[in-house]
Amino acid sequence: MRHKVIGGNTYHLPSGYSFAQVFMRSLTINQGPIETTSENMEKFDGTYSMTFPGNQQLIVTQDAGFINHVLREKHTNYKKSAMTSGKAARLFGDGLLFSNGDFWLQQRRLIQPGFHSKKLQGLYEIVARTIDETLAAFPTGENVDFYPLMHRLSFDIVIRALFDIDLSPATMQELTSLFTGLQNFLIRDIRRPFRKFLYPINGQERLNLKRSDQLKDLIRQVIRQRRNDPKPYNDLLDMLLSTRYEDSGEPMSEEQLIAEVLILLFAGHETTANTLSWLLYLVSSKKDILDRLTELSLKLDINESIRNEYFQAVINESMRLRPAAWMADREAIADDSFAGYSYPAGTVIMTFFYGLHRHREFWENSDVFDPNRFIDENGKIRKSPAFFPFGAGPRMCIGNNFAMAEMGLFLRAFFSKFEISPTSTPPELMPLITLRPDKVLLNVKKR
Ligand code: HEM
Repeated sequence: MRHKVIGGNTYHLPSGYSFAQVFMRSLTINQGPIETTSENMEKFDGTYSMTFPGNQQLIVTQDAGFINHVLREKHTNYKKSAMTSGKAARLFGDGLLFSNGDFWLQQRRLIQPGFHSKKLQGLYEIVARTIDETLAAFPTGENVDFYPLMHRLSFDIVIRALFDIDLSPATMQELTSLFTGLQNFLIRDIRRPFRKFLYPINGQERLNLKRSDQLKDLIRQVIRQRRNDPKPYNDLLDMLLSTRYEDSGEPMSEEQLIAEVLILLFAGHETTANTLSWLLYLVSSKKDILDRLTELSLKLDINESIRNEYFQAVINESMRLRPAAWMADREAIADDSFAGYSYPAGTVIMTFFYGLHRHREFWENSDVFDPNRFIDENGKIRKSPAFFPFGAGPRMCIGNNFAMAEMGLFLRAFFSKFEISPTSTPPELMPLITLRPDKVLLNVKKR
């Protein structure tokens, strides 16, 4: 425990690193954040703290109880931390993922009904069609890099689920390049905050704010076209346009609509792309699992593939070992305490899902890829208190049903048409905003 006096109060922080130690470590540590955090978890028994400039406290934890405390039980005392969300909101707007407080709650209530399983059913035809089109032109051969292919597919799926219209190739290209440019800048900004002062000087800030405006303008055009289109649609944009605030009966403002569309694009493609890429890598060397996936993909119809337990177990096991959301961050609004620790308002808590998903107390042979651990004796999906692929509590992923269905549809379509085998180059972990592979090289041939 570290005892610290802050603002006249004494707090009992988890053991960890003082500001001087954090500074020294930042100069000497060369390994990635997952390796460093995992080492610290071993050293400090699952929870540790660090002090940053301005007496900013950071607690990192893989304790399931502490994570529940922050995300579920005391969730009203926590907001998204300015450390990550502030930067992102500047570029992507104040949509669901980055907003806080009453405003977030109002938006969540408004949008949530559009993501109920029944509502989503209508979208699955669009998703299946997009997957089929992609697979019709899918490359075969040795050392095919699946990551850009899965990235493109997931992006196309979210775009089509949002706007079920054929955007011109030029518009799609522009959307993709603006979006990717902004994301790359955001990642650089979060990873190297000390370079921030350079951005106004070297033009990066102006360039990216301009990109953000251009992206918003593009989405504004699509929304305006839709408003004048008498045809009925069954996509997410239609849901966002038709929904009304409970108290005023008013629809969302155009600016807010643009922000929510951007957030669904942002939150809804990279996570799925990462999960599918890791999944294909993880199963590529497991013959029994590949055989089962193929057998099921030739047998199941589209609706069955969305609900199939084995597909879900394979997806879960991939998200256990390689959670796209490898951690979440929250900032305490008021002083709080948990299990003997106490910490001041403003403390940032990082929930290290990656570590919890491999914790020996919860997972037997935790490093082994074994989908069957998610199937119970009745063949149903087994739940675990140590599994948080979509977060938890009121801010849990709004798109989780959509994502699971999308991935089930992909498994069916892919394994009915293709065979994969591993190569000698394993992917490297790239923990940026999400946990992505640097590349996923596989051999692929038509069945
Ligand atoms: C495998 C795919 C996905 C994973 C692993 C994932 C994971 C997550 C996680 C962990 C959170 C909570 C973050 C936090 O607590 O700070 C989250 C939030 C969110 N996700 Fe997902 N997600 C996925 C797919 C999607 C899709 C497909 C969509 C939409 C089409 C989506 C939309 C959102 C939104 C809007 C939020 C913010 C919810 C709120 O704060 O109220 N996600 N996601």
